Amino acid sequence: MVFTAVANVISSVVFGRRYDYNDPLFLKVLNCMEENVASFGSASILNIFPVVRYLPGDIFKFKKILDNLAFTEREFIHPMINDHMDCYDEDNIHDFTSAYIKEMRHHEGEGTTMSIPDLQASVLDLFGAGSETTATLIRWALALFLNYPDVQDKCFREIEENIGSSRKPSMADIPNLPYVEATITELARYANIVPTGVPHAVSRDFHFQEYTFPADVMILPILDSVLHDEALWGDPYNFRPQRFLDEDGRFVKKDEYIPFSLGRRACLGESLARMELFLFIAGMVQRYRFVSVPDAVPSLIPVCGIVFSPKPFLVKAVPRI
Ligand code: HEM
Repeated sequence: MVFTAVANVISSVVFGRRYDYNDPLFLKVLNCMEENVASFGSASILNIFPVVRYLPGDIFKFKKILDNLAFTEREFIHPMINDHMDCYDEDNIHDFTSAYIKEMRHHEGEGTTMSIPDLQASVLDLFGAGSETTATLIRWALALFLNYPDVQDKCFREIEENIGSSRKPSMADIPNLPYVEATITELARYANIVPTGVPHAVSRDFHFQEYTFPADVMILPILDSVLHDEALWGDPYNFRPQRFLDEDGRFVKKDEYIPFSLGRRACLGESLARMELFLFIAGMVQRYRFVSVPDAVPSLIPVCGIVFSPKPFLVKAVPRI
């Protein structure tokens, strides 16, 4: 359910439309994405031993991953892009796909790298990078609320005092909800869902301190070494939103807060993700009290896959309104 809701946000941005929660094609595409997320851990052995791709069968599931990607492109992304090409109207640009087509046409004949295959790859990247990440952090929020009920209560009280229950939270409410903002910030630090960042390579020989990185060598920026550094945070394995509040209860940013990485290639979805996290989590806490079922407080030990996720758990949502 969370995954479908978040994927629909990406679909609104990319294609300008949402899908019904029972739409068979959308459900099949989401199923392909979830299977790929689950298989990514075992398939990554190909990065180290590429030769295993020639083994018979598909024990590391990489053929399954490729089939799922091919299905998603053929049945979902290509038809949507073709529809956008057919109905293209320069004066009605309402989503990423039509904006891309407009730019591509403006630069035609100038040797641009913009092309339909590049658009298809970008759309796939946005769905891939934007759905599982945000959905996983929302699952972590629930797992943490069940382990730290006082944090959930404080968020609820702040929402109740500043918004009430007659309307949904909006982005304009953030300045009045510093504890909620601190909670969501601490959530991404604590959950540390992309602990090894995304692989990069140096384009030329590069010297840093006493190290030399030869051209093309792979670099993994270990975000975990900052996000869970005891010297920086004191108690990194405690979920403590207060660390992002000053003594007057105002929200404070910290340079060491880098769950979206940093530099030129930092996550391009950070502002969208922060908006989604705020609107989903504040809206959920406003309407429901989340409690664990007896004797089943969720484990906070992550499962390692394409992102660090909480183990599956049961949660009871008691309506507040
Ligand atoms: C809470 C959720 C998210 C987290 C924690 C997260 C984290 C990250 C991290 C650590 C990177 C690697 C940056 C680097 O290479 O140094 C990244 C890259 C990226 N993210 Fe996110 N992300 C999130 C949500 C999103 C969303 C919602 C989108 C899309 C709308 C998105 C799109 C991307 C893309 C396209 C890249 C590659 C950027 C590039 O190589 O230039 N992410 N993200």
